[in-house]
Amino acid sequence: MNTTYASSQQLYLDVNDEFSINDEYISIISGNHSKMEALNLLDKIDWDFGGVTTQYLSHKFHSYPARFIPQIPFTFIKLFTKENDVVLDPMCGCGTTLVESFLNGRNSIGNDFNPLATLISKVKTTLIPEADFRYIEKKIFKMKKYLDLDYGRIEERIDNLPNRNISKIFNKTIIGKLETIKEMLLEIKDENYNDVYDFGRVAFSATIWSLVENGNGMDVENTFIKKVQFMKKELLEMAKIVSRQSYTKVMQGDARKLEIDDDSVDLIVTSPPYVNALDYYRTHMYNMLWLEMDFGLLKKHEIGGHSHFIMNRFRLLSEYLADMLRSMIEMNRVLKNGKICAIVVGNSSLEYELIESHKYFESFAKDIGFEHFKTFFRNIDKSRKYTSANIGQIDDEFIVIFQKVSDSKVSANDDDFIAQAVKKQMETFREQIRKNPGTSIRGKKPTKARLLNNVERISFAIDTIQQDIKIKG
Ligand SMILES: C[S@@+](CC[C@H](N)C(=O)[O-])C[C@H]1O[C@@H](n2cnc3c(N)ncnc32)[C@H](O)[C@@H]1O
Repeated sequence: MNTTYASSQQLYLDVNDEFSINDEYISIISGNHSKMEALNLLDKIDWDFGGVTTQYLSHKFHSYPARFIPQIPFTFIKLFTKENDVVLDPMCGCGTTLVESFLNGRNSIGNDFNPLATLISKVKTTLIPEADFRYIEKKIFKMKKYLDLDYGRIEERIDNLPNRNISKIFNKTIIGKLETIKEMLLEIKDENYNDVYDFGRVAFSATIWSLVENGNGMDVENTFIKKVQFMKKELLEMAKIVSRQSYTKVMQGDARKLEIDDDSVDLIVTSPPYVNALDYYRTHMYNMLWLEMDFGLLKKHEIGGHSHFIMNRFRLLSEYLADMLRSMIEMNRVLKNGKICAIVVGNSSLEYELIESHKYFESFAKDIGFEHFKTFFRNIDKSRKYTSANIGQIDDEFIVIFQKVSDSKVSANDDDFIAQAVKKQMETFREQIRKNPGTSIRGKKPTKARLLNNVERISFAIDTIQQDIKIKG
């Protein structure tokens, strides 16, 4: 729809004069292209998007580690879908793909195992009527009085906290104030203002995130109120831009077994976790505790986590490859035939060895009904906070593009197939390490013996594939 596109274009130009996505770029990718033309255009894009503004509208609501820049989903959405098509991100994180779909009049489905991710994604794509903003503002006004009155009940509040760990990092004053905000939010929930309640919880969670980053000296209630005010401003701005006919569906679920119909999606754009890069449950622990979300379950099911297999880190690789293969089979199942799936992933490192995840994904493709079209390389802007570069020693990333050419003959829960496919990749990896050990050495050099030992450890990891690839619980 032209108006949506025109307004977002205006917005991009307003936000930052140096924004490198200029009119010409937007007009080219918004043209009416055949799939082949669109695929050919991908070659012409500078995927670094150097200097672009990545934080606008609801993208600014809440920090989230390893999110991708909105220009990536934006480009794929414009090139490969039309209005009312369905875009899926099966590991949607804080909803970057969904926000871009929403701004450009596409329907979208976001899935993530992390309940905080799905909460943020939902709030970033849900418009709130002005009357409901007045309602929460009244609540906050009333709450401000209680902040003083309830001050004496802090000890009692600490006793009632869902987890005593919280009292270790925040002082009593802060805990008291956070609890008062939480009580106000629960009142909103009781009064059945569900979207306002979720909106308030994201502002609350962003406040907690600021506290964790900036320490106990912060003014809690004013930080919360400012978050509410700025989120309100951005949502009202978005209300002027978006097409109201499109829907956004956000679900908390496992990318390895999506609850989505076969052949129902027109485009997938996603960035999965990297092996050994980040434990999402750890990053979000305090927010999740305050929001009373279960991070134990996330720890068990998150892909790429590294809080286990401490004695042999290569077992993490077989587990990761199996999880990603299952997820790719699911992506194939839900995607319509002939449609595009773009996966953004970076290299990572395990025991001094480089893990080029995109190469594994490329090798998996043809056995599961995908054709690998091309892989594009992009440098990550290291000055940006919470990009993958800051987390898992990742300096660059790859955009891997597949096309669905047939239905996968195997299902995501075919453990024998998964084990065989992973074994093949692990054996190839072992051969590479045998010939060329230490492909990712940073800092202090390991001894030769230490590197040689890696080959043996990969062999042990190969022996335990059958058990390591099983989905837990
Ligand atoms: C790199 S982040 C995605 C960031 C996202 N592109 C964004 O811009 O916010 C990877 C996501 O995968 C999610 N994830 C990990 N294991 C998962 C699983 N088994 N099923 C679904 N999502 C999972 C994590 O919770 C995390 O949000």
